[in-house]
Amino acid sequence: MKFCIIGYPLKHSLSPAFYNRYFDAAGIKATYEAVEIYPEEFEEKIHQILEEYDGFNVTIPYKERVLGFVKPGKNAEVIQAVNCVFEGVGYNTDWKGFVDSLEGVELGEPVLVVGAGGASRAILYGLHRMGKNRVILLNRTFERALKLAKYFERFGLSFEVRGLNELREVLPKALSFINTTSVGLKGERFSIFPEDLSHLEVVYDVVYGGTPLQKMAEKAGVRHVIDGRPMLYFQAVENLKIWGLFRSEELFMRVFEEVAS
Ligand code: ATR
Repeated sequence: MKFCIIGYPLKHSLSPAFYNRYFDAAGIKATYEAVEIYPEEFEEKIHQILEEYDGFNVTIPYKERVLGFVKPGKNAEVIQAVNCVFEGVGYNTDWKGFVDSLEGVELGEPVLVVGAGGASRAILYGLHRMGKNRVILLNRTFERALKLAKYFERFGLSFEVRGLNELREVLPKALSFINTTSVGLKGERFSIFPEDLSHLEVVYDVVYGGTPLQKMAEKAGVRHVIDGRPMLYFQAVENLKIWGLFRSEELFMRVFEEVAS
């Protein structure tokens, strides 16, 4: 079988390494590639991808855009974002990855969420499923956050919507901070200081390993500083189940830890 991940940029993706290693270790005849697609080529390339691969993952910035080219599965339809495709059907497994990654961690409310893209959609849905309803939503493009808040109000979430430039001002009101954007991937930082984070119980960053935000949260003594790897792991478990290839949790966990630590 042939799998891949599509997105742009993909340099930092751990997915090809851990899926290929898992397929090898589990004796599954399958390959997993990284296919970078420039935004202007998306419409042309997505048809080729759908033809050529049995399944694929979707990451920044295509989780919403891909919806126009697949048949949405139940959760993808509700969340309006797709991160996993199999045989032409688009699924959302990010929300489950997010919820499972927080087992044993109490998310205090209100939860401050930065970002209004596909990852944010999955996380807002995950918050709803966890019964966390009070959200402060910030985004660089304010109107996009407003639109997202309006959509998710139907699930009973209540929002305060702000621009990202107001982050420092609203942080004191929040008990948890979730970054759903790519900020930090290339070392970018939010305009905040460690003392702005010291009252928080949880700082959750979908970017993996050692971003300025994570380092700052550790310095500030935040109890739970979580990077993108647990969510990556748990959404991958769901993807493998959809693809019919989840054979052994023990094996997959070992392979994932070897690749991602
Ligand atoms: P995905 O679907 O993977 O979440 P996306 O839909 O492109 O990707 O969304 C990316 C999110 O990261 C958006 O909230 C985006 O903010 P805008 O809506 O203003 O574009 C945010 N983002 C990306 N780069 C950013 C940056 N340098 N600073 C702040 N926010 C950024």
